[in-house]
Amino acid sequence: MSETALRLGVVGCGNVTVERHIPAVNRLEGARVVAVADPVDARVAAGRAVAELPESQAFSSFSAMADACELDYVLAAVPPSVRRAIVEDAFERGLDVISEKPLATRPSEAAKMIERARSLGRKFGMVHNYLFFPEYRLVRELVDQGEVGALRHIATNFLGVPDAPGNDEYRPRWRHDLDEAGGGVLMDMIHVFYLAEYLMGDQIAGVSAVVDNLGLPNEQVEDFVLAHLYFPEGYVSVNLSWSQGPGGLEVTGSSGRILAFYEDFKTGPFSTFEDLTLVNETGKKVYRPRRGQEVIDDTFDALHLDFFEAVRDDRDPVATAEDGARTLQAALATYSSGMLGRRVPLPLRVDDPVYLEGVVGLRQIPPHEFDPLRGKPLFGMQPVGDTTL
Ligand SMILES: NC(=O)c1ccc[n+]([C@@H]2O[C@H](COP(=O)([O-])OP(=O)(O)OC[C@H]3O[C@@H](n4cnc5c(N)ncnc54)[C@H](O)[C@@H]3O)[C@@H](O)[C@H]2O)c1
Repeated sequence: MSETALRLGVVGCGNVTVERHIPAVNRLEGARVVAVADPVDARVAAGRAVAELPESQAFSSFSAMADACELDYVLAAVPPSVRRAIVEDAFERGLDVISEKPLATRPSEAAKMIERARSLGRKFGMVHNYLFFPEYRLVRELVDQGEVGALRHIATNFLGVPDAPGNDEYRPRWRHDLDEAGGGVLMDMIHVFYLAEYLMGDQIAGVSAVVDNLGLPNEQVEDFVLAHLYFPEGYVSVNLSWSQGPGGLEVTGSSGRILAFYEDFKTGPFSTFEDLTLVNETGKKVYRPRRGQEVIDDTFDALHLDFFEAVRDDRDPVATAEDGARTLQAALATYSSGMLGRRVPLPLRVDDPVYLEGVVGLRQIPPHEFDPLRGKPLFGMQPVGDTTL
C-alpha cells in the first residue's frame, strides 16, 4: 500500500462485504480498508480477517470506528433500514460515502441524505455494480453503434433470482422482513431500474405493474413482479421472481434485435453468461463477452476503482446517490402500481404516502376495486374481501 492510499472504513461486515467489497478494495493500488465495524462479533471478526487488520481496527459501530480512526471515506454495506444514521454521521464528520443498494426504504429518507451530502459538500455514490457487467455494456455499445436502429423495447427476465439469505450470525431472513428490507424480491433486485435506465439511455417516466406473492403466502413481502417501465421513447419490461424461471434479455429495435442468455437459461448475473446474438439486416453475429467466466469480482473492482477515483479526483462517481434515489422511487412506483391497479408517473409526488413512508404507505391509500392480493397479507395491507379473478 502506498503512503498516500485513501483510507476506507467499512460499515457492515455481511456476506457482500466479506466476499466482494473488501477483497476488491484491497486489490486497488490507491485505496485500503483500514477499519471495519459491525455490531455482531462474529461478523466484525470475519471482516477483520478478510481485510487482514489488527484487533485494534475492528469496532462494534460506525461511530466508534470514526472516533478512533483517520478515514477518508466509508462503505455503508448494511441493510437499508439502518443506513441513514450511519451515512449522515459520516457526512457530518467530513467523510465521503459509497452506499449499498437500496439507498433507503423510503424516498423521503433518500432525499434527506442527499440534501445532507450536498450541504456538506460530500461525495455520495451507489453500489450499482450491474453497470459494469460486460453483457450489458455490450448491449449499450451495439445500440450506440446503431446496430438495431431506434430502441423500442427491452424485455429483461430475472425470473430465477436465488432467494439468498444474509449471513447466519445476523438475521439470515432480513430480506423477508418488511420493516428491515422495505419490500421483497424487487428491493433485493432493485438493480433492474438503474439497469433499465442505462440500457435505454434515459430516465423512467412511469410504471405499470403486477406485484404478487406466489410462493410465500403468509409473508408480507412479494416474490413476483412484472413491471412495464415507460420511457420517453420506448419501454422496458422487467419480470422478476424468487423462483426458477428464465433469465436474459431481448432487445427490440426498429431495424434489428439482440438476445442475451445465460447457461441453461438461468438468471444473470448469478450464473455463467452464455452468449449474445445480434440480428439485423446485415445478418447474425454471436458475441461471448464473458462466456464461462465468473466476472462478479471484476465488476466490484471496477466499481471501487471508480469511487476511489471520484474521491481522489473530486469528480462524480459513475453511480450517484441521485441515481439511487430515482431507482428507489421506481421501486415504490412499481409497488403502488401493482397494489393500486394504476399507472404511476415518476418522480413521485413528495406528499405521496409511499414517498414519505415507503411501501407501508400503501396502507393509507384506498385499494383498487379489483384486489390483486386475493386476500394475502402483502405489505400488511388489509384484504379487500372476497374477490375472484
Ligand atoms: N450490490 C450487490 O450486488 C449486492 C449483493 C448482496 C447484498 N447487497 C446489499 O448489501 C447490503 C448487505 O447485504 P448482505 O448480503 O451483506 O447482508 P448480511 O445480512 O450478510 O449482512 C448485513 C450486515 O450488516 C450488519 N449490520 C446491521 N446493522 C448494522 C449497523 N447499525 N452497523 C453496522 N453493521 C450493521 C449486520 O450485523 C450484518 O453482518 C444490503 O443492502 C444488500 O441489499 C448488494
